[in-house]
Amino acid sequence: MAHDAEDLSFLFFAPTRIVYGVNSAADVAVELRNLGCDKAVIVTDQSLYDNTDLVKKIEKTLGTMCVGVYSDVPSDSGLHVVNRGYAFARDLGATGVVSVGGGSVIDTAKGIAILLKEGGQLEDYQGFRTLTRKVAAHVCLPTTAGTGSEVTHIAVIKDSDKRQKLVLGDHHIIPDVAILDPVLTAGLPPGLTAATGMDALSHAVEAITSSQREPITDALGLHAIRLIGEWLPLAVKNGGDLSARGHMLVAATLAGAAFSNAQAGLAHAIAHTVGARHGVHHGLAKAVAMPYVMRFNNSHVAAEQAAIAEALGVDTRDMEVEQAGLAAADAVARLSTGLGLPATLKDVGVPGNDLEACAQVALSDGAITYNGKPVFDASQVLSVLSNAWTGDSTPRSR
Ligand SMILES: [Fe+2]
Repeated sequence: MAHDAEDLSFLFFAPTRIVYGVNSAADVAVELRNLGCDKAVIVTDQSLYDNTDLVKKIEKTLGTMCVGVYSDVPSDSGLHVVNRGYAFARDLGATGVVSVGGGSVIDTAKGIAILLKEGGQLEDYQGFRTLTRKVAAHVCLPTTAGTGSEVTHIAVIKDSDKRQKLVLGDHHIIPDVAILDPVLTAGLPPGLTAATGMDALSHAVEAITSSQREPITDALGLHAIRLIGEWLPLAVKNGGDLSARGHMLVAATLAGAAFSNAQAGLAHAIAHTVGARHGVHHGLAKAVAMPYVMRFNNSHVAAEQAAIAEALGVDTRDMEVEQAGLAAADAVARLSTGLGLPATLKDVGVPGNDLEACAQVALSDGAITYNGKPVFDASQVLSVLSNAWTGDSTPRSR
């Protein structure tokens, strides 16, 4: 796994201030004030607000700096959710956002932060590099260890009318501060812990195998994979294990910084598609798709995938590089099913008669551009989807 330093050219950007520690959520007021913001809305989801005291504690810590709580964010946020949240924040005179939640909440807050600065509707800013200046202040407190959205330049928002996920990508939307407090993730149930953890793993895997990979993102991605292989099973087994939760939060952030710079790949394109068309949870879709995408990619990125196998604890010393690359796909599949997650697209509710349409939509998803193996034809995507649907895992490492 090497780079030709003479031909290599890259730009790495990870400006988020990261505050880590058990009970570090208590720092939220100081961090917000340091950004020059004294009026913010909290963006969160209803169940976190109603069923836990996490958000209320943060609200209390912020005191008068919190001018309102927007808790209407569903697990799969949409355009109208962002536009409504903006109107709510604007009418209260907010100049910043504090997001408390998973990827959907943080991405919604990114959208609101854009509109607080620029006005208009989120639809006006879809696509890549549409902004010319930094958006409103944003402090985020992730309650899942998965999306890495706390450090990425991407927001994914559902456009229900088009049954597609809208991707916004701009360095101006990278959150200012990420507060990583393991206590905030301790209540996440085992199934969601597993699925979101596999999302983090996919970010690392896709960064390492992306056509935009470079040494810094390699380093971040490989360490994220080591941490996830070791700690995710423990976090799923015992949610109250703050050490496991803490390592997973760090891993998700490392993987987020990796893929925010190196970009993602085909597994993302598939997850966006089956998420928008069939409501499949993002992390679950990744967990299912990843081994099949890795087998498909192996002809182009075997050495990178061999390094992933090693990071997951596979002894690759007696293997040819192609075999070691495929062993990484098997190791990911083993990790996923060992966590109790389903193994096929059929199992997660994707109807077999929609695979062709899914292949077409996935091909048009921006994430596919940087896949380690060039994807230019829907039939290539369809072959991966078909294998992932039936559970056909050929070729295998052994
Ligand atoms: Fe993701």
